[in-house]
Amino acid sequence: MADRPNPLCMVGAGYVGLVTAACLADAGVDVRLLDIDAARLALLRRGRAPIHEPLLDELLAEVLANGRLELHEDAATAMDGAQIIMLAVGTPPLGDGRADLTQVRAALTQAVQHAGPETVIVIKSTVPPGTTASLRSLCRRNGRVVPLAVCPEFLAEGSAVRDFRQPPQVVIGGDDPEACKRVALLFGHLDAPVRITDSTSAELIKYGVNAFLALKISFINEMAQLCEYTGADVSSVADGIGTDERIGRAFLGAGLGFGGSCFPKDVRALDQAASYHGQNFQLLRAAVEVNQQARSRFVAKIQRALNGKLAKRRIAVLGLSFKPGTDDVRQAASIDVIRHLEDLGASVVATDPVAMANARPLLPRTDLVDDPYACIAGADAVVVVTEWPEYVALDWPRAATLVRRHLVVDGRNCLPVDQLVDLGFTYIGVGRPIRKPRPLKRAKPGSKPRAELVAVP
Ligand SMILES: NC(=O)c1ccc[n+]([C@@H]2O[C@H](COP(=O)([O-])OP(=O)(O)OC[C@H]3O[C@@H](n4cnc5c(N)ncnc54)[C@H](O)[C@@H]3O)[C@@H](O)[C@H]2O)c1
Repeated sequence: MADRPNPLCMVGAGYVGLVTAACLADAGVDVRLLDIDAARLALLRRGRAPIHEPLLDELLAEVLANGRLELHEDAATAMDGAQIIMLAVGTPPLGDGRADLTQVRAALTQAVQHAGPETVIVIKSTVPPGTTASLRSLCRRNGRVVPLAVCPEFLAEGSAVRDFRQPPQVVIGGDDPEACKRVALLFGHLDAPVRITDSTSAELIKYGVNAFLALKISFINEMAQLCEYTGADVSSVADGIGTDERIGRAFLGAGLGFGGSCFPKDVRALDQAASYHGQNFQLLRAAVEVNQQARSRFVAKIQRALNGKLAKRRIAVLGLSFKPGTDDVRQAASIDVIRHLEDLGASVVATDPVAMANARPLLPRTDLVDDPYACIAGADAVVVVTEWPEYVALDWPRAATLVRRHLVVDGRNCLPVDQLVDLGFTYIGVGRPIRKPRPLKRAKPGSKPRAELVAVP
C-alpha cells in the first residue's frame, strides 16, 4: 500500500511489540524495533526469539534478513523520521491491582521528544480507561500537539502470529480523526473490520474483552463444581450451553481457570478503574475469587484422592506454562498448585516442553525434569496442569508401567479417559464423575502382562 505510514518505530520487543513488529514488517512496513533490554536485542540479533511463539522464529528470520525489521537500542535513531511511533511497553500490576503506567509515560515522553511533523504516537499497551486522554498533556512539542491514539492489542500468547493476521477487528481510539485513519492504514491488508472510536471507549473495549472471557471461564468453573455435586459432566454441559450461538463454546473449558500476563492483571485493573469512580464491579471480583478457588479445590482433590496424605507422596505435574503454546509462566496455575502441594509435604516433580527455564526460579523446591516419562516414574499421582498436546498423546500404556499408583488428576479435562481406565488408572477430572479402573480382562496365554494395579482409596 503506497499511502501506508512508513517507517514505523515499535517501542518494546516483548510479546506484543515483537510479534506486531515482525508481522507489520512481513506486510511490507519498514519497522525499527527499539528496546532498552540489551540482552533481548542481542538474542534477536543472533536470530533467536526471546519468547516461544509458534511461527515467530521463521517470520523473524525472514524480516531480519530482508531488512524490513531493524533492531535498535538508541531511541533517537529508531524514532528519527518515523511516521508512527507505537508503544508496546509493559503495564504490570501495582500491589493494589492498578496498572503501572511508568513505562508508558517514559516511552511517551521520549517519543514526543523525537517526533517529527508527520508523527502519530500510538499506545498499543493495555491502559486503563481515560489514560490516553490524560496523557495528551505530555504530547506538546515546540508549540505543536503530537497526535496520540490508542490501538489495543487482542492477540493471545500461543497463537499470536495467527491472531495478528486474522484479528476479529482492529480498534483505534483517538480525538484526531485524520491521525486515526493513518493508523488504520497500517492494517489495511488485513481482512478485518476497523472500528474507530474515542480513546476511552477503545481502552474499555480491550478490558471488556478480557474481562468477559475471564467471566466465561469462571462461570463454567462454578458450573463444574455443581456438576460434581449433582453427578453431571461439565464437558457435556459446556457443549450444550456453547451450542447456543448467542453464547458460543469458546472459553467454556472447565479446569484450572485463567492465568498468564493479561487476564488476571486486566480484570484487576478494570476493577480498580471502576472503584476509582466509586463503582463496585462485583462480577469482576467474583471471577477472580472463583479462579483462585479452582486452584485450591484442585489441590484438595489430589489430597483426597491420596487419602488425605500428601506428605512424602511423589506428585508428577505435567505442564507449567499458563497455557499450551507459550513458555510464559506469569500467574500460571502450575505455580500456585505446586507450591501448595509442597507446603502440604508432597514431593513434586514437574515437566514442560518449553517453560522449564522460566519456571525454575519460581519453584526452588521442585524437581524439574525434561522427560515426561522420567517425571511420571514412581509417581503416586499424575497431575495435568497444562493441556499440551504431547501430554494428551503421551504413551499412556508405557506411563502405566512407570507409576507407583495408578491415579491421574486432570486439571484440564484433556486426557483420553477411556484409555486410562482401561489401563488401570483411576481418573479424576474437573466437573465430571470420577472414573474407576475397568476390571482387568483375563490375559490370554502368552500375551504381555498388563501394568500391575495399585488400589487407590
Ligand atoms: N502478552 C500478551 O499476550 C498481551 C496481549 C495483549 C496486550 N498486551 C499488553 O501489551 C503490553 C505489552 O505486553 P508484553 O507482554 O509485550 O510486555 P513485556 O513485558 O513482555 O515487554 C515489554 C518490553 O518493553 C521494553 N521496554 C520497556 N520500556 C521501554 C522503553 N522506554 N523503551 C524501549 N523498550 C522498553 C521492555 O524491555 C520489554 O522488552 C502490556 O500493556 C500488555 O498488557 C499483552
